[in-house]
This record gives sequence, structure tokens and C-alpha cells, in this order.
Amino acid sequence: MSDPKAVLAELLRDALAAAFGAEHAGTDPLIRPSQFADFQANVALPLGKALGRPPREVATAIAGQLDAGDVCAKVEVSGPGFLNLTLRDEWLAAQAAALAADPRCGAQQADVRDVIPIDYSAPNVAKEMHVGHLRTTVVGDALARTLEFRGHRVIRQNHLGDWGTPFGMLIEHLLDVGEHSEQAELLQSDPNAFYQAAREKFDNDEGFADRARRRVVALQAGDADTLRLWQELVDLSKVYFNRIYRMLDVTLTDDDLAGESIYNEWLAEVCDELEAKGLATVSQGALCVFLDGYTGREGNPVPLIVRKSDGGYGYATTDLAAVRYRVRDLGATRIVYVIGAPQSLHLSMVYETARLAGWLPPEVAAIHVAIGNVLGEDGKLLRTRSGAPVRLMALLEEAVERALTVVRETRPELDAPTHQAIAHAVGVGAVKYADLSTAHDTGYVFDFDRMLALSGNTGPYLQYAAARARSIFRKAGIKPEDATAPVRLDAPAERALALQLLGFGAAVAEVDTLLEPHRLCTYLFDLASAFTTFYEQCPVLKADDPVVRESRLTLCAASLRTLVTGLDLLGVTVPDQM
Ligand code: ARG
Repeated sequence: MSDPKAVLAELLRDALAAAFGAEHAGTDPLIRPSQFADFQANVALPLGKALGRPPREVATAIAGQLDAGDVCAKVEVSGPGFLNLTLRDEWLAAQAAALAADPRCGAQQADVRDVIPIDYSAPNVAKEMHVGHLRTTVVGDALARTLEFRGHRVIRQNHLGDWGTPFGMLIEHLLDVGEHSEQAELLQSDPNAFYQAAREKFDNDEGFADRARRRVVALQAGDADTLRLWQELVDLSKVYFNRIYRMLDVTLTDDDLAGESIYNEWLAEVCDELEAKGLATVSQGALCVFLDGYTGREGNPVPLIVRKSDGGYGYATTDLAAVRYRVRDLGATRIVYVIGAPQSLHLSMVYETARLAGWLPPEVAAIHVAIGNVLGEDGKLLRTRSGAPVRLMALLEEAVERALTVVRETRPELDAPTHQAIAHAVGVGAVKYADLSTAHDTGYVFDFDRMLALSGNTGPYLQYAAARARSIFRKAGIKPEDATAPVRLDAPAERALALQLLGFGAAVAEVDTLLEPHRLCTYLFDLASAFTTFYEQCPVLKADDPVVRESRLTLCAASLRTLVTGLDLLGVTVPDQM
């Protein structure tokens, strides 16, 4: 175990038990960063209160029992009863060297391995992925990668919107324009254009609207020819989604598709079961679940409608069938929903209904990772100047284009393919990182200049720190893996870097429990800052003493690996050079 906080916590719990009895072996020592030492433990304050003793006295008693000689150079009681803890340089140095040799950068696997279906991305067939889908895709993918790294079994579930009444008009439009026409191909590049054209005919052409409605009936009845055309629409849209996914460097593949349509066969059963269990009742012709505590503005109960009065099933029914499937068939022990914040009412009604029906047992957590909005400079939902929804591909292409302009200027000596590769990593990485570094449930203003800046908490700043470390090894002519010399911590910047490096495992574990990727971003930004200070203050290859040079190379290797590993968990690629 290399995380100093965890090591200190264990020692402090032992000391607490020795000083105040075994029942304190589980007490949280409340370790925080300190201004005057590496850490401080605040436990004596609440404990003093509980025991009715002065906190300073309690702190002194803990310090008296603390067996931290190997780890701490100094333990001091300060202020009202804080325990200030300063780590030994030798201990820190040894931990940092061990970390440099560890492919996992000191990050542990989870003690309890969960089976975690993650519902994320979930765009809609024949529709543009909007910036909301950008966020659910990017945040979901970062969580999937991080949870996998922690040893959980992650099952990606791309809950594609691939069913419903609009498919009647979409199929008829596809027949009108011709399956292999240029207009049909729009589905692969500009799906909204296809959708709008269908919609317009539906609204203005009675004959077409009639055909569309009959087509819905045929689709629901499972008519073979209709199903084939529906599949054609889905397949064309898949081409579009996959282009976006490749551009975004996310891990989603066709194997992760679990669209709404796969639940069709269970919808009637879900409704029957809810009715049989007395959970659903017919109200104004619709089958509804009424849950306690869900009321509208006038105090009227808000129903979860599971079967509409025309007999059709909706979004809620599909989500209920999906919960049942994820627990019963996938064996979920934790289900993660990366979905827009406005859907939180819908989701909590689905969870509660599923709990009452016994499909979601109490030991299985269902968690909504609520996604906030992406805003334009006017503070409203991001739109193009003409007010149309932003095309995601255009947005990503612009980010890459802007990065390309910069890299061509700053690195004229590199060839075109290298320029392209760097621009892709930096442009796309900047957009993803900006998204991930904001708390997932708050909105942010989409601002290319801020995202692409080389300073501040941005993707390019972190990538640049890693690229600098890589260039040191290129110049030294050795591989980072071979930098395994012992570490010495003489300069303050070396010590600060080592301490920061040792926090990686805790940052990753926190993302596992809290499902908040921005915490890993904050950690990596602090690491990149510590590395940058070290880089500026501590010459590596020009160090006079070969022992210092080797030690600094080890620190560089550990920094590089931790930055690259951490950014990879976020889905951000580090270019070889910048
Ligand atoms: N397709 C939906 C949309 O675009 C999101 C679906 C989210 N997942 C779910 N299980 N409801 O808004």
C-alpha cells in the first residue's frame, strides 16, 4: 500500500484503539492536507467532545500511541487539537520508486468486484447526436474505463432510441427517397436533414401521414418487410454513431448496443406482472403506476404510464424491462445510468416501481449520474448562430482544425501525418477533458479558446506535461520503463511531486465510489502542476550528480505513467509529442 493517507489512517486507527479502546479501531481519523505539515488528523476534536475531554489531551494521547516511526519524521499536536503529520523523506522516496515500477501506478483493485451495466450515450436512430449525448457518451465512457480498471465487470449498455411511432414516417420516407439514394445516405452524415424531411411530409401531406400510421401498425405487428426497412434505418444510423464514436476515441462498439427494441418481447409481461402485483391500475384507459410522494403542481398524483390508452408501450415500460433484464439476466450488482439531469424524476419512478415489483432487489444500487447542460456563450443551451442544434461532428472537426492551426505554427518541422495525429489527440482531448473536468451535474459554457488553452485545468495542459516527460526520455535515449533507479528527495519540488504521485490510487478509488470523473481530473491537474514545477526547478538530464539525474528520471517515469494512465481512464489520448 503506497497511499500515504491510507497508511497513516491505519496507523492512527491502531493508535486510537490502543489509547481509547478497541471500539475506536473503526473511527475515521479525519486526515486532511495541512498547511504546516503533509497531513493533519482532526479526529481529536469530535472525539474529545464525545469523551468530554480536551481535544489537545486526546490528540496527545493518540500521538503517544502512534507507532509511525518508519513513516513519519514528525508528529505534532497543534492548535485546538490537530495532529500534524510530516512524512519521512526516505519513506516517501521508497514509495515513489515502488510506484514508478508499478504498471498500475499504485492503484488497487476494488475489494468487492461488482457487475455494473452502464447505460450511456443512448442516441436516437435517424437523429443527430446533440451535445447532451456528447456528455453522456464521454462521462459514461470514462466511468466504464475507470470501473474496469478497478476490477469490476462493466457491461456497456448503449440504450439506443430505436423504436417508437416516428419509425412509421421514417420508413415511408426511406421508401420514397429510395433505400440507396443520396438522401438515405444522409442518415450516415446528417441525420437531422433526413428526419426533418420526413417530418415535413408527415405534417403537410395527409396521404403520407396515413401511410406512416399504417406503417407503425405493421412494424408493431412484426411485418417482415417493415422490419427489414426498420433494420436498414438502424444500420445506416449505426454508421453515423460509429463515426462519432471513433472520432471521440470512446470504447463503444456494436457489441454494446442494447437498444430499446430489444425489450419489446417483455413489455406485455412487465405490464401484466405489475397489474398482477397490484402495482398498476387502469386510469383513463392507460395502465399507470401511482407512487407515494409523486405529485404534480396541484397535488395531483403523477403516474408512471406503462401502457398508453391506445395499447402502446412507452419509454417507462422499456426502462422497467431494462432494469429487470440487467438484474435478472446480466447479474448486475450496481447499475449506472449516465443520463440527462432532467430525467431524474423519470428514473426515480422507474427505480421505485422496479423495487416494489421485486425486479431491483435492495442490495442492487441503481444510480443516476445526472448530466448537466452544455451552454452557449449566451448561457442558453448550445445552438448554432441560426438557432439550429449543433452538429456534433462539426463541433469535433472544428476542435481538431483549431488544434491543427496551432501545431502547424508551433512545430513547423513535423510532417503532415504527425500534425494530424497531434491535432486529433489535442482537439478531441480538449473537448472531452473540458466536459469531464466539470462536475457532471452542472452545466458549462462551451468555449473553444478555454478548452484548448495550454494553461489552466485543460486537456492540452495535461497532455503537454506528459509530452514534456516523454521528450526527456527521447533526449536521454532510454525507455521510461527502464528508469528504475532509487529516488532521492532533496528539492522541495521533488518532494511535492512524490507526494502528489502517491495519491493516484485514492483518486481512482474515489471515482469508483462517487462516480465523479472530475475528481480524477482535479488530481491529474495537480499532478501536472507539480510535475511542471519540478521540470522548471530541477534539471534532469543536466543534473551534475549522476545519482540525482537517475533519481529524477525515475520521478519523470512515474509522472509520465501516472499521467498517461489517468488520462487513459478518462479516455483522453496523450500524443507522443506536442
Ligand atoms: N435516447 C434517450 C435520449 O436521447 C436517452 C436514453 C437514456 N437511457 C435510458 N435508459 N432511458 O434522450
